[in-house]
Amino acid sequence: MSSSLRQRRTIIRAALPAAVLMLVSGAVAVQSGGPAVAAETTLRAAAAKAGMFFGVAASPNRLYPSVGQEFGQLTPENDMKPDRIATSSGGLQNTSGADTLVNHAQSNNMLVRGHTLVWHSQAGALQGASQATLNTFIGNAINRWGSRIAYWDVVNEALEDNNTGRRRNQWPHTMNRDANGDGDFFDAGDTDVIRDSFIRARQVVQAGGYTTKLCINDYDVEGLTVQGGGPNRKANALYDIVRNYRQYIDCVGFQAHFNDNPNSVITNDLQANIQRFADLGVEVHISELDIDDDLSNNDIGAGQAENYRKVVRACLNVAKCTGITVWGISDSESWRSSERGLLFTGSNGSYQKKAAYHAVLDELNKGRGTTTPTTPPVTTPPPTTPPVDPTTPPPTTPPVTTPPPTTPPVTPPAAGCSATVSLNSWNGGFVATVRVTAGTSPINGWTVRLTLPSGATVTNTWNANASGASGAVQFSNVAYNGAVGAGQSTEFGFQGTGAATGLTPVCAAS
Ligand code: XIL
Repeated sequence: MSSSLRQRRTIIRAALPAAVLMLVSGAVAVQSGGPAVAAETTLRAAAAKAGMFFGVAASPNRLYPSVGQEFGQLTPENDMKPDRIATSSGGLQNTSGADTLVNHAQSNNMLVRGHTLVWHSQAGALQGASQATLNTFIGNAINRWGSRIAYWDVVNEALEDNNTGRRRNQWPHTMNRDANGDGDFFDAGDTDVIRDSFIRARQVVQAGGYTTKLCINDYDVEGLTVQGGGPNRKANALYDIVRNYRQYIDCVGFQAHFNDNPNSVITNDLQANIQRFADLGVEVHISELDIDDDLSNNDIGAGQAENYRKVVRACLNVAKCTGITVWGISDSESWRSSERGLLFTGSNGSYQKKAAYHAVLDELNKGRGTTTPTTPPVTTPPPTTPPVDPTTPPPTTPPVTTPPPTTPPVTPPAAGCSATVSLNSWNGGFVATVRVTAGTSPINGWTVRLTLPSGATVTNTWNANASGASGAVQFSNVAYNGAVGAGQSTEFGFQGTGAATGLTPVCAAS
Protein backbone atom coordinates (compact mmCIF):
# COMPACT_ATOMS: atom_id res chain seq x y z
CA MET A 1 0.00 0.00 0.00
CA SER A 2 1.36 3.43 -0.78
CA SER A 3 2.24 5.54 2.22
CA SER A 4 -0.25 8.23 1.29
CA LEU A 5 -3.02 5.63 1.04
CA ARG A 6 -1.98 4.20 4.37
CA GLN A 7 -2.02 7.70 5.82
CA ARG A 8 -5.48 8.34 4.39
CA ARG A 9 -6.85 5.08 5.78
CA THR A 10 -5.46 5.96 9.20
CA ILE A 11 -7.11 9.34 9.03
CA ILE A 12 -10.44 7.79 8.01
CA ARG A 13 -10.23 5.27 10.84
CA ALA A 14 -9.36 7.97 13.34
CA ALA A 15 -12.21 10.14 12.12
CA LEU A 16 -14.86 7.44 12.41
CA PRO A 17 -15.60 7.50 16.16
CA ALA A 18 -16.03 11.27 16.03
CA ALA A 19 -18.53 10.96 13.18
CA VAL A 20 -20.45 8.29 15.06
CA LEU A 21 -20.54 10.51 18.14
CA MET A 22 -21.87 13.41 16.15
CA LEU A 23 -24.64 11.25 14.72
CA VAL A 24 -25.57 9.95 18.15
CA SER A 25 -25.74 13.44 19.54
CA GLY A 26 -28.09 14.39 16.72
CA ALA A 27 -25.69 16.65 14.84
CA VAL A 28 -26.09 16.44 11.09
CA ALA A 29 -22.48 16.51 10.04
CA VAL A 30 -22.19 13.62 7.68
CA GLN A 31 -19.40 14.24 5.22
CA SER A 32 -19.79 13.21 1.63
CA GLY A 33 -17.06 10.64 2.09
CA GLY A 34 -13.41 11.04 1.19
CA PRO A 35 -10.46 11.61 3.43
CA ALA A 36 -10.36 14.37 6.00
CA VAL A 37 -7.10 15.70 4.54
CA ALA A 38 -7.02 15.29 0.79
CA ALA A 39 -3.70 15.13 -0.99
CA GLU A 40 -3.28 17.94 -3.48
CA THR A 41 -3.31 16.89 -7.11
CA THR A 42 -1.08 19.55 -8.66
CA LEU A 43 2.51 20.49 -7.91
CA ARG A 44 1.63 24.12 -7.27
CA ALA A 45 -1.12 23.30 -4.79
CA ALA A 46 0.90 20.71 -2.93
CA ALA A 47 3.87 23.10 -2.73
CA ALA A 48 1.68 26.00 -1.62
CA LYS A 49 0.31 23.90 1.19
CA ALA A 50 3.90 23.25 2.31
CA GLY A 51 4.60 27.00 2.17
CA MET A 52 6.70 27.10 -0.97
CA PHE A 53 6.31 27.66 -4.68
CA PHE A 54 6.85 25.05 -7.37
CA GLY A 55 7.68 26.72 -10.65
CA VAL A 56 8.83 26.22 -14.21
CA ALA A 57 10.99 27.92 -16.82
CA ALA A 58 8.87 28.94 -19.79
CA SER A 59 8.87 30.68 -23.14
CA PRO A 60 6.01 32.62 -24.75
CA ASN A 61 5.39 29.90 -27.36
CA ARG A 62 4.86 27.28 -24.66
CA LEU A 63 2.24 28.86 -22.45
CA TYR A 64 -0.10 25.88 -22.50
CA PRO A 65 -2.81 25.47 -19.85
CA SER A 66 -0.65 23.00 -17.94
CA VAL A 67 1.78 25.82 -17.11
CA GLY A 68 -0.70 27.65 -14.90
CA GLN A 69 -2.34 24.48 -13.65
CA GLU A 70 0.75 22.71 -12.42
CA PHE A 71 3.11 25.55 -11.56
CA GLY A 72 2.88 28.47 -9.17
CA GLN A 73 5.94 30.33 -10.40
CA LEU A 74 7.44 31.16 -13.77
CA THR A 75 10.98 32.00 -14.86
CA PRO A 76 11.45 33.28 -18.42
CA GLU A 77 13.81 30.68 -19.87
CA ASN A 78 15.40 33.18 -22.27
CA ASP A 79 13.16 36.22 -22.71
CA MET A 80 14.57 38.41 -19.94
CA LYS A 81 18.22 37.83 -20.66
CA PRO A 82 20.33 40.79 -21.76
CA ASP A 83 20.77 39.37 -25.29
CA ARG A 84 17.00 39.70 -25.67
CA ILE A 85 16.18 42.92 -23.93
CA ALA A 86 19.28 45.07 -23.42
CA THR A 87 20.67 47.76 -25.69
CA SER A 88 24.38 48.55 -25.63
CA SER A 89 23.75 51.63 -23.49
CA GLY A 90 21.73 49.71 -20.92
CA GLY A 91 18.31 50.58 -22.30
CA LEU A 92 15.52 48.08 -22.95
CA GLN A 93 14.35 46.65 -26.27
CA ASN A 94 12.24 43.71 -27.48
CA THR A 95 10.48 43.24 -24.17
CA SER A 96 7.34 41.76 -25.73
CA GLY A 97 8.27 38.14 -24.93
CA ALA A 98 9.10 39.06 -21.34
CA ASP A 99 5.89 41.09 -21.06
CA THR A 100 3.84 38.14 -22.35
CA LEU A 101 5.36 35.89 -19.71
CA VAL A 102 4.86 38.36 -16.89
CA ASN A 103 1.24 38.93 -17.94
CA HIS A 104 0.59 35.21 -18.20
CA ALA A 105 2.06 34.69 -14.76
CA GLN A 106 -0.02 37.48 -13.31
CA SER A 107 -3.28 36.24 -14.77
CA ASN A 108 -2.50 32.74 -13.49
CA ASN A 109 -1.46 33.94 -10.04
CA MET A 110 2.10 32.82 -10.49
CA LEU A 111 5.21 34.42 -9.01
CA VAL A 112 7.88 35.55 -11.48
CA ARG A 113 11.63 35.16 -11.18
CA GLY A 114 13.40 37.68 -13.38
CA HIS A 115 16.33 36.02 -15.08
CA THR A 116 18.90 37.58 -15.32
CA LEU A 117 20.62 40.99 -15.04
CA VAL A 118 24.40 40.43 -14.87
CA TRP A 119 25.80 37.37 -16.62
CA HIS A 120 28.88 36.56 -18.69
CA SER A 121 26.73 34.53 -21.09
CA GLN A 122 23.87 35.62 -23.37
CA ALA A 123 24.98 39.18 -22.68
CA GLY A 124 24.22 40.38 -26.21
CA ALA A 125 24.77 44.12 -26.64
CA LEU A 126 25.93 44.42 -23.03
CA GLN A 127 28.96 42.23 -23.59
CA GLY A 128 31.99 44.17 -22.34
CA ALA A 129 29.90 46.96 -20.83
CA SER A 130 31.14 49.07 -17.92
CA GLN A 131 29.65 48.90 -14.44
CA ALA A 132 27.93 52.23 -15.14
CA THR A 133 26.16 50.73 -18.16
CA LEU A 134 25.27 47.61 -16.23
CA ASN A 135 23.81 49.85 -13.55
CA THR A 136 21.69 51.64 -16.13
CA PHE A 137 20.37 48.32 -17.40
CA ILE A 138 19.72 47.07 -13.86
CA GLY A 139 17.64 50.18 -13.18
CA ASN A 140 15.67 49.97 -16.41
CA ALA A 141 14.88 46.27 -16.08
CA ILE A 142 13.86 46.36 -12.42
CA ASN A 143 11.73 49.45 -12.94
CA ARG A 144 9.92 48.04 -15.96
CA TRP A 145 8.19 45.28 -13.99
CA GLY A 146 8.57 46.48 -10.41
CA SER A 147 6.84 44.30 -7.83
CA ARG A 148 5.41 42.08 -10.55
CA ILE A 149 8.75 40.35 -10.30
CA ALA A 150 8.99 38.56 -6.96
CA TYR A 151 12.64 37.55 -7.36
CA TRP A 152 15.36 38.87 -9.65
CA ASP A 153 18.53 36.94 -10.40
CA VAL A 154 20.83 39.95 -10.16
CA VAL A 155 24.04 38.03 -10.77
CA ASN A 156 24.17 34.66 -12.50
CA GLU A 157 27.01 32.13 -12.63
CA ALA A 158 29.77 34.33 -11.23
CA LEU A 159 31.99 31.42 -10.28
CA GLU A 160 34.40 29.41 -12.37
CA ASP A 161 33.89 25.77 -13.37
CA ASN A 162 35.89 22.78 -12.10
CA ASN A 163 35.48 23.43 -8.39
CA THR A 164 38.24 26.04 -8.17
CA GLY A 165 36.21 28.34 -5.94
CA ARG A 166 37.38 31.33 -8.00
CA ARG A 167 35.42 34.03 -9.77
CA ARG A 168 35.16 33.60 -13.53
CA ASN A 169 38.04 35.01 -15.49
CA GLN A 170 35.63 36.53 -18.00
CA TRP A 171 33.74 39.77 -18.40
CA PRO A 172 32.10 41.16 -16.30
CA HIS A 173 34.33 39.71 -13.59
CA THR A 174 37.48 40.94 -15.32
CA MET A 175 36.41 44.39 -14.10
CA ASN A 176 37.21 43.22 -10.57
CA ARG A 177 40.25 44.54 -8.72
CA ASP A 178 41.77 43.16 -5.56
CA ALA A 179 43.26 46.39 -4.18
CA ASN A 180 45.13 44.98 -1.19
CA GLY A 181 46.03 41.69 -2.87
CA ASP A 182 44.49 39.54 -0.16
CA GLY A 183 42.88 37.19 -2.66
CA ASP A 184 39.29 38.35 -2.32
CA PHE A 185 37.17 41.21 -3.60
CA PHE A 186 35.38 41.95 -0.36
CA ASP A 187 37.40 44.89 0.92
CA ALA A 188 36.31 48.50 0.75
CA GLY A 189 39.03 49.39 -1.74
CA ASP A 190 38.29 46.44 -4.03
CA THR A 191 36.16 46.50 -7.15
CA ASP A 192 33.57 43.75 -7.32
CA VAL A 193 30.93 43.57 -10.02
CA ILE A 194 28.82 41.37 -7.76
CA ARG A 195 28.77 43.88 -4.93
CA ASP A 196 28.30 46.89 -7.18
CA SER A 197 25.46 45.27 -9.12
CA PHE A 198 23.65 44.26 -5.94
CA ILE A 199 24.10 47.73 -4.46
CA ARG A 200 22.56 49.23 -7.57
CA ALA A 201 19.69 46.72 -7.63
CA ARG A 202 19.02 47.35 -3.94
CA GLN A 203 18.89 51.13 -4.53
CA VAL A 204 16.40 50.71 -7.38
CA VAL A 205 14.14 48.36 -5.40
CA GLN A 206 14.19 50.71 -2.42
CA ALA A 207 13.57 53.83 -4.46
CA GLY A 208 10.66 52.17 -6.25
CA GLY A 209 9.20 50.70 -3.05
CA TYR A 210 9.08 47.28 -4.72
CA THR A 211 8.65 43.99 -2.89
CA THR A 212 11.12 42.32 -5.27
CA LYS A 213 13.78 40.15 -3.65
CA LEU A 214 17.31 40.05 -5.02
CA CYS A 215 19.03 36.72 -5.68
CA ILE A 216 22.40 35.33 -6.69
CA ASN A 217 22.21 32.17 -8.77
CA ASP A 218 24.78 29.50 -9.70
CA TYR A 219 25.32 25.82 -10.50
CA ASP A 220 27.51 23.09 -9.00
CA VAL A 221 26.96 24.79 -5.65
CA GLU A 222 24.34 22.38 -4.34
CA GLY A 223 26.34 20.07 -2.08
CA LEU A 224 28.80 20.76 0.71
CA THR A 225 30.97 18.19 -1.01
CA VAL A 226 31.47 16.95 -4.56
CA GLN A 227 31.66 13.39 -5.84
CA GLY A 228 34.28 11.48 -3.85
CA GLY A 229 33.73 13.59 -0.76
CA GLY A 230 36.09 16.52 -1.30
CA PRO A 231 34.91 20.01 -0.40
CA ASN A 232 32.70 21.88 -2.84
CA ARG A 233 34.85 24.98 -3.21
CA LYS A 234 32.38 26.60 -5.56
CA ALA A 235 29.66 26.27 -2.94
CA ASN A 236 32.04 27.62 -0.30
CA ALA A 237 32.91 30.60 -2.49
CA LEU A 238 29.23 31.36 -3.03
CA TYR A 239 28.70 31.09 0.69
CA ASP A 240 31.46 33.65 1.31
CA ILE A 241 29.88 36.01 -1.19
CA VAL A 242 26.46 35.77 0.43
CA ARG A 243 27.94 36.15 3.91
CA ASN A 244 29.94 39.22 2.91
CA TYR A 245 27.12 40.86 0.97
CA ARG A 246 24.26 39.67 3.11
CA GLN A 247 22.94 43.23 3.46
CA TYR A 248 22.19 43.38 -0.27
CA ILE A 249 21.24 39.76 -1.01
CA ASP A 250 17.84 38.25 -0.16
CA CYS A 251 17.99 34.89 -1.85
CA VAL A 252 20.26 32.26 -3.32
CA GLY A 253 19.41 30.05 -6.28
CA PHE A 254 20.99 26.61 -6.56
CA GLN A 255 20.43 25.91 -10.24
CA ALA A 256 20.55 22.16 -9.60
CA HIS A 257 21.22 20.93 -13.13
CA PHE A 258 22.20 17.54 -11.75
CA ASN A 259 24.18 15.21 -13.99
CA ASP A 260 27.07 12.76 -13.80
CA ASN A 261 29.81 15.37 -13.87
CA PRO A 262 31.67 14.83 -10.55
CA ASN A 263 30.82 18.37 -9.47
CA SER A 264 27.16 18.11 -10.48
CA VAL A 265 25.97 14.99 -8.70
CA ILE A 266 23.39 14.92 -5.92
CA THR A 267 25.28 14.51 -2.65
CA ASN A 268 23.88 13.48 0.70
CA ASP A 269 24.79 16.83 2.19
CA LEU A 270 22.49 18.85 -0.09
CA GLN A 271 20.18 19.59 2.81
CA ALA A 272 23.08 20.63 5.07
CA ASN A 273 24.27 23.04 2.41
CA ILE A 274 20.80 24.52 1.94
CA GLN A 275 20.66 24.86 5.70
CA ARG A 276 23.93 26.74 6.05
CA PHE A 277 22.82 29.34 3.50
CA ALA A 278 19.42 29.53 5.18
CA ASP A 279 21.22 30.14 8.46
CA LEU A 280 22.64 33.33 6.93
CA GLY A 281 19.05 34.52 6.75
CA VAL A 282 18.51 34.30 3.00
CA GLU A 283 15.84 32.35 1.17
CA VAL A 284 17.18 29.40 -0.78
CA HIS A 285 15.66 28.23 -4.06
CA ILE A 286 16.29 25.21 -6.21
CA SER A 287 16.08 27.47 -9.21
CA GLU A 288 16.63 25.46 -12.42
CA LEU A 289 16.14 21.84 -11.52
CA ASP A 290 16.62 18.98 -13.95
CA ILE A 291 18.09 15.55 -13.21
CA ASP A 292 19.97 13.70 -15.92
CA ASP A 293 18.75 10.12 -16.36
CA ASP A 294 22.45 9.09 -16.22
CA LEU A 295 22.25 9.71 -12.49
CA SER A 296 20.02 6.67 -12.20
CA ASN A 297 21.34 4.21 -14.75
CA ASN A 298 19.66 5.68 -17.80
CA ASP A 299 16.45 5.49 -15.90
CA ILE A 300 13.54 7.83 -16.38
CA GLY A 301 11.51 5.66 -14.02
CA ALA A 302 12.04 4.76 -10.39
CA GLY A 303 15.70 5.81 -10.11
CA GLN A 304 15.15 9.30 -11.42
CA ALA A 305 11.98 9.59 -9.37
CA GLU A 306 13.93 8.80 -6.21
CA ASN A 307 16.53 11.41 -7.10
CA TYR A 308 13.78 14.00 -7.50
CA ARG A 309 12.29 12.92 -4.21
CA LYS A 310 15.63 13.41 -2.48
CA VAL A 311 16.02 16.95 -3.79
CA VAL A 312 12.46 17.96 -2.95
CA ARG A 313 12.80 16.48 0.52
CA ALA A 314 16.06 18.36 1.18
CA CYS A 315 14.29 21.62 0.36
CA LEU A 316 11.15 20.79 2.33
CA ASN A 317 13.25 20.04 5.39
CA VAL A 318 14.69 23.56 5.49
CA ALA A 319 12.10 26.18 6.34
CA LYS A 320 13.85 28.92 4.38
CA CYS A 321 14.02 26.82 1.22
CA THR A 322 11.02 28.55 -0.25
CA GLY A 323 10.79 27.35 -3.82
CA ILE A 324 11.71 24.84 -6.47
CA THR A 325 11.69 25.59 -10.19
CA VAL A 326 12.12 22.94 -12.87
CA TRP A 327 13.93 24.04 -16.02
CA GLY A 328 11.13 23.25 -18.45
CA ILE A 329 8.06 21.05 -18.61
CA SER A 330 8.90 18.11 -20.79
CA ASP A 331 12.02 16.17 -21.67
CA SER A 332 11.79 16.72 -25.40
CA GLU A 333 11.41 20.49 -25.03
CA SER A 334 14.22 20.84 -22.50
CA TRP A 335 17.52 22.64 -23.14
CA ARG A 336 19.15 19.27 -22.44
CA SER A 337 16.62 16.99 -24.04
CA SER A 338 19.03 14.06 -24.30
CA GLU A 339 19.22 13.91 -20.51
CA ARG A 340 15.48 13.30 -20.19
CA GLY A 341 15.70 15.21 -16.94
CA LEU A 342 12.24 16.69 -16.40
CA LEU A 343 8.85 15.66 -15.02
CA PHE A 344 6.84 15.15 -18.23
CA THR A 345 7.22 13.55 -21.62
CA GLY A 346 5.32 14.74 -24.68
CA SER A 347 5.33 18.06 -26.47
CA ASN A 348 3.31 21.07 -27.59
CA GLY A 349 1.03 21.10 -24.61
CA SER A 350 0.21 17.41 -24.71
CA TYR A 351 2.23 16.16 -21.76
CA GLN A 352 2.36 12.88 -19.87
CA LYS A 353 3.43 12.66 -16.25
CA LYS A 354 6.57 10.63 -15.52
CA ALA A 355 7.33 8.61 -12.41
CA ALA A 356 9.40 11.60 -11.30
CA TYR A 357 6.28 13.79 -11.39
CA HIS A 358 4.38 11.44 -9.09
CA ALA A 359 7.34 11.23 -6.71
CA VAL A 360 7.61 15.02 -6.49
CA LEU A 361 3.87 15.42 -5.93
CA ASP A 362 3.88 12.74 -3.25
CA GLU A 363 6.87 14.26 -1.47
CA LEU A 364 5.36 17.76 -1.57
CA ASN A 365 2.13 16.38 -0.16
CA LYS A 366 4.00 15.03 2.84
CA GLY A 367 4.89 18.62 3.70
CA ARG A 368 7.85 19.96 5.62
CA GLY A 369 9.77 18.45 8.47
CA THR A 370 9.63 14.76 7.62
CA THR A 371 13.22 13.88 8.18
CA THR A 372 12.88 10.13 7.74
CA PRO A 373 11.94 9.25 4.19
CA THR A 374 9.03 6.83 4.06
CA THR A 375 10.26 5.37 0.81
CA PRO A 376 13.52 3.50 0.54
CA PRO A 377 16.42 5.56 -0.76
CA VAL A 378 17.95 4.81 -4.15
CA THR A 379 18.89 1.15 -3.94
CA THR A 380 21.30 0.80 -6.84
CA PRO A 381 23.89 3.54 -6.95
CA PRO A 382 24.61 4.53 -10.54
CA PRO A 383 27.93 3.20 -11.73
CA THR A 384 29.49 6.57 -12.37
CA THR A 385 28.33 8.00 -9.07
CA PRO A 386 29.66 6.15 -6.05
CA PRO A 387 27.52 6.96 -3.03
CA VAL A 388 28.98 9.93 -1.29
CA ASP A 389 29.65 9.58 2.41
CA PRO A 390 27.37 6.60 3.00
CA THR A 391 28.18 6.76 6.68
CA THR A 392 27.06 10.35 7.08
CA PRO A 393 23.95 10.56 9.21
CA PRO A 394 21.17 12.69 7.77
CA PRO A 395 22.05 16.28 8.61
CA THR A 396 19.07 16.87 10.85
CA THR A 397 19.64 13.75 12.92
CA PRO A 398 21.39 14.57 16.17
CA PRO A 399 25.09 13.82 15.80
CA VAL A 400 26.20 10.44 17.05
CA THR A 401 28.60 10.99 19.89
CA THR A 402 31.29 8.38 19.88
CA PRO A 403 33.20 7.66 23.07
CA PRO A 404 36.28 9.78 23.61
CA PRO A 405 39.35 8.34 21.91
CA THR A 406 41.59 6.19 24.01
CA THR A 407 44.70 7.67 22.46
CA PRO A 408 46.46 10.26 24.62
CA PRO A 409 45.59 13.84 23.69
CA VAL A 410 47.75 16.04 21.56
CA THR A 411 51.28 14.73 21.34
CA PRO A 412 54.21 16.98 20.56
CA PRO A 413 54.67 17.59 16.84
CA ALA A 414 56.84 14.97 15.18
CA ALA A 415 59.32 16.03 12.60
CA GLY A 416 58.37 15.46 9.00
CA CYS A 417 55.10 17.27 8.36
CA SER A 418 53.01 20.25 9.32
CA ALA A 419 49.30 20.97 9.07
CA THR A 420 47.18 24.07 8.71
CA VAL A 421 43.42 24.33 8.91
CA SER A 422 41.00 26.67 7.20
CA LEU A 423 37.44 26.90 8.45
CA ASN A 424 34.17 27.63 6.80
CA SER A 425 31.64 28.15 9.57
CA TRP A 426 27.98 28.90 9.77
CA ASN A 427 25.55 29.11 12.63
CA GLY A 428 25.63 25.61 14.12
CA GLY A 429 28.16 23.97 11.83
CA PHE A 430 31.43 24.10 9.96
CA VAL A 431 33.60 22.53 7.30
CA ALA A 432 37.32 22.35 8.09
CA THR A 433 39.86 21.87 5.32
CA VAL A 434 43.22 20.66 6.58
CA ARG A 435 46.36 20.92 4.51
CA VAL A 436 49.16 18.49 5.33
CA THR A 437 52.60 19.49 4.07
CA ALA A 438 55.65 17.25 4.14
CA GLY A 439 58.92 18.71 5.43
CA THR A 440 62.25 18.47 3.70
CA SER A 441 61.94 14.68 3.21
CA PRO A 442 59.14 12.70 1.60
CA ILE A 443 56.71 10.94 3.97
CA ASN A 444 54.74 7.70 3.59
CA GLY A 445 51.92 8.41 6.00
CA TRP A 446 50.63 11.09 8.35
CA THR A 447 48.42 11.61 11.37
CA VAL A 448 46.92 14.93 12.33
CA ARG A 449 45.70 15.45 15.88
CA LEU A 450 43.63 18.33 17.10
CA THR A 451 41.26 19.13 19.91
CA LEU A 452 37.76 20.32 19.13
CA PRO A 453 36.18 22.86 21.44
CA SER A 454 33.41 21.51 23.61
CA GLY A 455 30.12 21.26 21.73
CA ALA A 456 31.79 20.58 18.37
CA THR A 457 31.32 17.14 16.82
CA VAL A 458 32.69 15.68 13.60
CA THR A 459 29.90 14.26 11.45
CA ASN A 460 31.65 13.55 8.19
CA THR A 461 35.27 13.19 7.02
CA TRP A 462 36.80 12.95 3.54
CA ASN A 463 40.25 11.98 2.34
CA ALA A 464 41.23 10.74 5.84
CA ASN A 465 40.35 8.11 8.43
CA ALA A 466 38.96 9.78 11.52
CA SER A 467 39.21 8.51 15.04
CA GLY A 468 37.04 10.23 17.61
CA ALA A 469 34.33 12.76 16.92
CA SER A 470 34.66 15.27 19.75
CA GLY A 471 37.35 16.51 22.06
CA ALA A 472 40.76 15.16 21.03
CA VAL A 473 40.39 13.64 17.57
CA GLN A 474 42.84 12.34 15.06
CA PHE A 475 42.88 11.89 11.31
CA SER A 476 45.27 9.68 9.41
CA ASN A 477 45.90 9.26 5.71
CA VAL A 478 43.91 6.90 3.52
CA ALA A 479 45.60 4.59 1.02
CA TYR A 480 45.91 7.12 -1.78
CA ASN A 481 47.22 10.20 0.04
CA GLY A 482 49.75 8.91 2.59
CA ALA A 483 52.76 9.41 0.35
CA VAL A 484 53.59 13.09 0.08
CA GLY A 485 56.74 14.35 -1.59
CA ALA A 486 59.18 16.70 0.15
CA GLY A 487 57.55 20.13 0.47
CA GLN A 488 54.37 18.87 -1.19
CA SER A 489 50.87 19.01 0.28
CA THR A 490 47.65 17.05 0.40
CA GLU A 491 44.27 18.04 1.79
CA PHE A 492 41.57 16.36 3.79
CA GLY A 493 38.44 17.75 5.34
CA PHE A 494 35.75 17.21 7.84
CA GLN A 495 32.36 18.59 8.55
CA GLY A 496 30.86 19.05 11.97
CA THR A 497 28.18 20.52 14.12
CA GLY A 498 28.83 23.21 16.70
CA ALA A 499 31.62 25.78 16.48
CA ALA A 500 35.24 24.86 15.77
CA THR A 501 37.24 27.97 16.50
CA GLY A 502 40.90 28.01 17.43
CA LEU A 503 41.88 24.61 16.05
CA THR A 504 45.59 23.83 16.32
CA PRO A 505 46.42 20.81 14.19
CA VAL A 506 49.57 18.86 14.97
CA CYS A 507 51.00 16.61 12.27
CA ALA A 508 53.09 13.45 12.76
CA ALA A 509 54.70 11.70 9.80
CA SER A 510 55.48 8.02 9.39
C1 XIL B 1 19.53 28.04 -21.03
C2 XIL B 1 18.23 27.90 -21.81
O1 XIL B 1 17.48 26.88 -21.26
C3 XIL B 1 18.53 27.60 -23.27
O2 XIL B 1 17.36 27.64 -24.04
C4 XIL B 1 19.53 28.63 -23.82
O3 XIL B 1 19.88 28.26 -25.13
C5 XIL B 1 20.77 28.69 -22.96
O4 XIL B 1 20.39 28.98 -21.63
N1 XIL B 1 21.82 28.33 -16.50
C6 XIL B 1 21.01 29.41 -16.63
C7 XIL B 1 19.98 29.43 -17.69
O5 XIL B 1 21.06 30.32 -15.79
O6 XIL B 1 19.73 30.71 -18.16
C8 XIL B 1 20.33 28.52 -18.83
O7 XIL B 1 19.23 28.48 -19.72
C9 XIL B 1 20.69 27.16 -18.32
C10 XIL B 1 21.86 27.20 -17.38
